[in-house]
Amino acid sequence: MGRIDELCDERGRIEGLYSELNKWSFESICLVLYEKRFGLLQKNAGDEALNFITAIKTMMSMFGRMMVTPVELHKSLNTKVWQAHTRAWDTIFRSVKSCIDSRLEHCSEQPSKDFLCDIYLHNQLSRKELYAAVTELQLAAVETTVLMLNTQVLGSNEENFKDSSQFRPERWLQEKKKINPFAHLPFGVGKRMCIGRRLAELQLRLALCWIVRKYDIVATDDKPVEMLHLGILVPSRELPIAFCQR
Ligand code: HEM
Repeated sequence: MGRIDELCDERGRIEGLYSELNKWSFESICLVLYEKRFGLLQKNAGDEALNFITAIKTMMSMFGRMMVTPVELHKSLNTKVWQAHTRAWDTIFRSVKSCIDSRLEHCSEQPSKDFLCDIYLHNQLSRKELYAAVTELQLAAVETTVLMLNTQVLGSNEENFKDSSQFRPERWLQEKKKINPFAHLPFGVGKRMCIGRRLAELQLRLALCWIVRKYDIVATDDKPVEMLHLGILVPSRELPIAFCQR
């Protein structure tokens, strides 16, 4: 909330709102994983965490490009896309490795009290497996707070949602129970569904509760926000939203 106050201009707009949301996701997952704040929501954020977020963006966007041309081609020709992609992965792994190493080092006195130490010592994950699992959690937590492709497609299908382009929040009221439960699966379904769902929902609900107590969230224009496919879907322009003090 402090960060919103600090960043809002006189009309309640926040430049780079999308990137601020990424920072917030990063802080949240890191607090769970390492019980550590990286200070991204403060004025002088450290380079380490910012580099991590930039690397995720690069990796995802290069991954998006490699979905349209064969990966093997990029690899064998060592294209710029491939180089940027692998460099980004290196940054991501280096950053996670250093966080885990320092966490495991500092918690060795009371291992059972620490989330990571507990997993490491009791679940028989090797250090390497822990690096991989935590990297995936951190990546998924920072970058999935935007709509996934199938959600967009299912949501715009008139068979599932009448007048799908209309903003009608009342369609979600449970009394009617008209929505096919498989028409809206933002977290997937089954064994491989999103492992971070509870955390994500908790984050979103808490954020919304805090924000609406203080601000009206208003649209600043009525032009559509197009989607860019960068591995996942991201908004094509600055989000047209302002926070007006109540
Ligand atoms: C609004 C936020 C989020 C959305 C919409 C979302 C959505 C998804 C979706 C659609 C999948 C694929 C499910 C499938 O294959 O059926 C997934 C997987 C995953 N998500 Fe999320 N997610 C969100 C937040 C998070 C957070 C906060 C974390 C970390 C704490 C996370 C960690 C993961 C992981 C690790 C997987 C892979 C699970 C597996 O393959 O077994 N996600 N997520």
